[in-house]
Amino acid sequence: MKILKTLISLATASVMINSPFFADGAVTSLAITDNVSQSNSADIKNIHDSDIAIGESNAIRGDNNGDGKVDILDLPIMKRSQVSSQTHTATTITNILTGQWKTEGTIGVRDFTFDNGTGTFFMEDTGFQQDFTYTVQGVSFIMNIPYTLPLTAIMTWTDSSHFSLKWNDGTIEHFTSVSNNSVVQNNTQQNTVEQQNTQHSISNSQYSSSTGQHTIQNINGVTYIDGILIANKTYSLPANYNPGGLLPEVESAFLEMARCAWNDGISLWICSGFRSYEYQRTLYNGYISMYGKDATDTFSARPGHSEHQTGMAMDIIEASSAFEGTPAAIWLAENCWKYGFIIRYPKGKESITGYKYEPWHIRYLGKETAKAVYDSGLTLEEYLGINSVYSY
Ligand code: DAL
Ligand code: ZN
Repeated sequence: MKILKTLISLATASVMINSPFFADGAVTSLAITDNVSQSNSADIKNIHDSDIAIGESNAIRGDNNGDGKVDILDLPIMKRSQVSSQTHTATTITNILTGQWKTEGTIGVRDFTFDNGTGTFFMEDTGFQQDFTYTVQGVSFIMNIPYTLPLTAIMTWTDSSHFSLKWNDGTIEHFTSVSNNSVVQNNTQQNTVEQQNTQHSISNSQYSSSTGQHTIQNINGVTYIDGILIANKTYSLPANYNPGGLLPEVESAFLEMARCAWNDGISLWICSGFRSYEYQRTLYNGYISMYGKDATDTFSARPGHSEHQTGMAMDIIEASSAFEGTPAAIWLAENCWKYGFIIRYPKGKESITGYKYEPWHIRYLGKETAKAVYDSGLTLEEYLGINSVYSY
């Protein structure tokens, strides 16, 4: 049983205090107005179905999103979202990030070395040096410094020499490659740079549409348009693209949304979250054997083309027409943009998105972009001026 040592408070007295889930935690009461630190939060990834022996009205309190304020985390909701993600096989992709990099941020200049999962940073102002290990899972960057909790960040590549990390405390650090400076100095360094170039295959181009000028980037086989990762019938993902589950930012956006829906009397849960390439292939082939290829292509993505493989899409409650028109479906359509999601396959836009209406399928874009897309009344394809058509 894995738990965080620094555990949170409980909202009600009906919790089994002797449950292993709470064994290490000091049980105190936190009000929503209290300030807390993230170390007061539970790691929801480690909650297992059998660990929760409490009723629907129970919640735990802590700082889930790092804003220093108490969040009420409803256990049944967390349990449901967790159930759908427990079966994930986490695939760790290292090797993507190597070489020497420099950042200039609020804590001063830091010089980083990344080398196949291990790294070091050096703070120029203070001379402080720290070794760490790291993994890159899709756009999630996870840094492990000995004796502390893992630090996580969302990683965004601008080009092969620049990326930024948005840490989960909200700070952003911009990294610039400095490896090229030493490329002519010795062969060892040259090898590193060559390796880096093959690992970062990047192309950039521009195009215009009725919604303006857009930038299209292909980074290691993944397409980003105006910085938005795209998976549809036109743009596929590599088979080995596997963020290992829903991205942390997406999970916390869902929990925030589920909590607000709960306050409106609506219970939301994820019936399908992250799906690997292999899982999507099994799903798609299963549908073909039942419905044939042409019909299947109208509602199920071919492997490599599903948004579920991005870790940024999820199906809510029930992926069937029975969901349409339910209070939850109506609530989702009206409110999901506030939490950074869009209804990805709207009614009447089948010929543009390539899929039948799916009121249950939401895609995370972040609050700013989701609001812009929602306000535009356009599908993501129209908003970005792209199509969704298989080339094979
Ligand atoms: N049902 C959506 C299109 C998928 O299979 O990803
Ligand atoms: Zn879906």
